[in-house]
Amino acid sequence: MLPSRPEAVAAGLMIPDRLVVTGGARLAGSVSVPGAKNAVLPMMAACLLTEETCRIRNVPLIEDVEIMAALLRRLGATVEFDRAERRLTITAADIRSVRPDPELVHEMRASFLVTGALLARFGQVECVHPGGCEIGIRPVNVDMNGFRAMGAEILVMDGAYVARAPKLQGSRIYLDYPSHTGTENLLMAACLAEGYTTIVHASREPEVLHLIRFLRSMGAEIRGEGTSVVEVKGRSNLWGASYRTMPDRLVAGTFAIAAAITGGEVELREVWPEHLEPIIYKLRDIGVEMDETNRSVVVHARNKLRATEVQSMPYPGFPTDKQAEMAALLTQAEGESVVVERVFEDRFRYAEGLRRMGADIDIGGARAVIRGPSRLRGIEVSSGNDLRSGAAMVVAGLAAEGETTILDARYVHRGYESLADDLIGLGASIRAEKFVAPRVQL
Ligand code: EPU
Repeated sequence: MLPSRPEAVAAGLMIPDRLVVTGGARLAGSVSVPGAKNAVLPMMAACLLTEETCRIRNVPLIEDVEIMAALLRRLGATVEFDRAERRLTITAADIRSVRPDPELVHEMRASFLVTGALLARFGQVECVHPGGCEIGIRPVNVDMNGFRAMGAEILVMDGAYVARAPKLQGSRIYLDYPSHTGTENLLMAACLAEGYTTIVHASREPEVLHLIRFLRSMGAEIRGEGTSVVEVKGRSNLWGASYRTMPDRLVAGTFAIAAAITGGEVELREVWPEHLEPIIYKLRDIGVEMDETNRSVVVHARNKLRATEVQSMPYPGFPTDKQAEMAALLTQAEGESVVVERVFEDRFRYAEGLRRMGADIDIGGARAVIRGPSRLRGIEVSSGNDLRSGAAMVVAGLAAEGETTILDARYVHRGYESLADDLIGLGASIRAEKFVAPRVQL
């Protein structure tokens, strides 16, 4: 029997592609933050480094996890996803392919993370250029140059990177940009390389540190986590491990900014406040009260908001993934704000939608100037084919008069398991419409 629509949605068989937000409600209450997308995806790839079974807990129920699971299965791994328990059990004992499915790789940037592990363990990998949210060129030269430095021979054939190295050799690798997934890919490769690898100018994003800790629990020997020089002593093999996924600082940031734009009071539970420092700092700067405890943050937006300057940068700078939502919030702040995007070249896709909603926003190169406060009105807007831009439109809709309809909202589902429901739980008025099948067979 076919499931009813609510059942299909609950089981992840259908995803809402349109969100209709009725603005004006003040958010209040408490919300718990799920495991982090950008932490669980590299851990899933790292399971390819061993033939033993790994278990990952606190897994978010999002589409990108399903895509990575499908990708691993098609390589030959056994992947059991207990969604009720939020637990993945992955065994990569019988890998039969070193060619990740191009269709799935086109769906998601993080899919490229399997290349380092496959190359290190099997001496070969063939992978097409990864796709993902449309936010810029997103090259993989950091990964490729690193593999080359470790002795791999790399060719580009029929649009695929073909890398071969019977045994990777530890090396000193300087990254000319501290690429987040690039660092993760090289770390995984280095774990099974011969000798020592030193990664200089490594990414220090919290999810990279989290991966290092997971790899260590698999037996890897890594030093320097949290600094930009990380040293890995290669080993001949790693073993299975069980690990809990860290909370999603980016989802937490969305709840904080959503609370702020509605003048609300919201408690974020199960967060690591230290990861939220750049966001907490900026929200305080514009007049939002932020109270931290060990594992929670209370956002209290009772004051008028003030304009500020925000520059997105690699961690511990302000996260690029919160830049769009922050811009939406700054449309409600008194004065002229400046938002500079220093990570991706195409992350102002939301600006046109905000402008049509009534925001006073001008873009010049990597710089947005926002004059506020503006009265926003609900209209039909696009997600910009970027999950963070889609989230920003939801945030703007919360402060707009009338209904804001976000089209292509399936992008939002890549990174938020229940953004609409969570916001409804805090008092927002949101309805989901036009349900579509997920991009991969679950
Ligand atoms: N870059 C290079 N060469 C490379 C790789 C990157 O020049 O080889 C440049 C890019 O062009 C870009 C900048 O470096 O301008 C940042 O790219 P990076 O590789 O650091 O980012 P990423 O690994 O592609 C991850 C997250 C993003 C997050 C960024 C920054 C995952 C799966 N993705 O992307 O998350 O915005 O780091 O922290 O971890 C999202 O979750 O919505 C998202 C886009």
